Amino acid sequence: MGGDSVLLGCDYNFEQWSPAVWREDMALMREAGVGLVAINVFGWSHLEPRPGEYDFAALDEIVELLHEAGIGINLGTGTASPPPWLTRRHPEVLPVTADGTTRYPGGRQAWCPSSPVFREHALRLTEQVAARYGDHPALALWHVSNELGCHNALCYCEAGAAAFRVWLEQRHGTVEALNRAWGTAFWSQRYASFDEVQPPRLALSVRNPAQLLDFQRFSSDALLAHYRAEAAVIRRHSRARITTNFMVTAHIRALDYWSWAPDMDVIANDHYLDHRLPDPAAELSFAADLTRGLAGGRPWMLMETSTGAVNWQPYNLAKEPGQLVRDALTHVARGADAVCFFQWRASAQGAEKFHSAIVPHAGTGTAVWREVLELSATLRRLREVEGTTVEADTALVFSWESWWATDTEARPSQDLRYLDQVHAAHRALRELGVTVDVVAPGSDLSRYRAVVVPCLHLVSDEDAATLGAYVERGGRAVITFYSGIVDPDDRVRLGGYPGAFRDLLGVVVEEFAPLLPGQEKPLRNGGRATVWTERLRLTTARTEEAYEDGTPAVTRNDFGAGQAWYVSTVLDLRDVLVKVVDAPGTQKDTEVVRRGPYVFVINHGAKDVEHPATGEELVTGQPVTGSVLVPAGAVRVIREQA
Ligand code: GLA
Repeated sequence: MGGDSVLLGCDYNFEQWSPAVWREDMALMREAGVGLVAINVFGWSHLEPRPGEYDFAALDEIVELLHEAGIGINLGTGTASPPPWLTRRHPEVLPVTADGTTRYPGGRQAWCPSSPVFREHALRLTEQVAARYGDHPALALWHVSNELGCHNALCYCEAGAAAFRVWLEQRHGTVEALNRAWGTAFWSQRYASFDEVQPPRLALSVRNPAQLLDFQRFSSDALLAHYRAEAAVIRRHSRARITTNFMVTAHIRALDYWSWAPDMDVIANDHYLDHRLPDPAAELSFAADLTRGLAGGRPWMLMETSTGAVNWQPYNLAKEPGQLVRDALTHVARGADAVCFFQWRASAQGAEKFHSAIVPHAGTGTAVWREVLELSATLRRLREVEGTTVEADTALVFSWESWWATDTEARPSQDLRYLDQVHAAHRALRELGVTVDVVAPGSDLSRYRAVVVPCLHLVSDEDAATLGAYVERGGRAVITFYSGIVDPDDRVRLGGYPGAFRDLLGVVVEEFAPLLPGQEKPLRNGGRATVWTERLRLTTARTEEAYEDGTPAVTRNDFGAGQAWYVSTVLDLRDVLVKVVDAPGTQKDTEVVRRGPYVFVINHGAKDVEHPATGEELVTGQPVTGSVLVPAGAVRVIREQA
């Protein structure tokens, strides 16, 4: 993507600045080696100040300035946030929350994904922008809307309700089928016609979980339909690649990106370190692996990240010296071919004025600016890495549908959260030095030596069969508790848990037995189990790890030519995984990822480390024989000698 460098890019909200600043910025962008700039992401109220009246003067000028500077353009359709005139004239486009209250303009993304009025206006603007710039030589990429569903994914308004009914009819066909799928025989919820069905608005009690699940699916599909509508308009005017920025993060779960990914010409993700999590760096690695999975293993773009603090967490931490480069290169190690920052110049006003940027409020005489220059130089030295792919022989199965089905209103324990279990499995593998591909349920697993399946609560018969066949042919699977329990309609599979995987695992779970916060159950190996236990009976499996009272905690079943392991509690997963996967091991705080012939050694710790390697180190340009020194907090990339 980047010519002579792994691409460095940024968002440029030029509307905030004067033409004099634009000129200064072009010179600075060249100095920083910026190769791609996202513009017009929030341009609507400037481009169409009054209905049907367009003003492209400023955008034209920026487009030409970037072109003259030799910088590629990542062009927003400008539809991310409606202008005030639209919501004033058509308040019916405003989103409504589950309790029936309207969300007003004044922030951003104040529109219902199913609103036909919003769609019509957004497509009209898209048409104008696409027709005007569709074949501009500086145009590198189309950026549809922005982070679709970041704030407005679930809308409970009347337009949304009508669209939900249409969607349900398409999915279920008849109202009888809907009644069966949702189990409406319980609590007198039987529908006589689709007209009676509502979105799952806030109720006095627990809501119907199958209705909630279908509403999640519908909402993801509604936003994807919006993406497709804008992309179709663009396609009539332009041959450039089209994408939108995904949010593969810990706090956004509304979009099933497995279903979105095939529509993207290139997969782009926005990632910000989340300091609300116990291990933010481990989550970064997981998100990068999942993004690569969405890209089908091919290179992808980091469309947004921060040079320092964000402004939307309770405590917005600055990055430590060296961390800007380290975090960026961790994404590159895991398959990114572009690193873009939000945003170019820190805002002086508005909702994000305390969000970091490439040019901070203090200007270019700053450590952040110097680190961006250092990153830029490093990305140039890593040019040859571009286009190469990460090879992994272990897979981890991830499912948005299981996330929705697990983290629902009434569940056996509120400490049971899907993402916690996924993160724990990925973190354990990362600490064992294992590089992991994140794959969708039902994926072809034949090339993996081992597959880890955390908390796959909802699974279809076909996807369960794919996993079973993989093991039967010699694969190794590690499946953790609460997996296989319900079918795609959220209906419990009867006959004992873990339902779909009972035969594969050779166990029957008669009862869940969650633990209270702080409660522990000692294991025979000296470890301890927390959060979750089960009343488990072996059929064909044998015990691999037991509680102190001798009852099974971890089991193994020989199935066909392979092995199926079951982990029925929360424990140190490394103890189990080390017996199943080929774990090279790593030094403490050190992450090692292989991408093509390149080995990235990422030192998150405060001490220098020596890593065995022979070849050429690309960051320093030095030959390496036997071992490479990776200074504390730094990254080294070795092209290994064949
Ligand atoms: C998202 C948005 C940006 C900005 C950043 C701030 O990624 O797309 O517009 O709000 O968050 O972190």
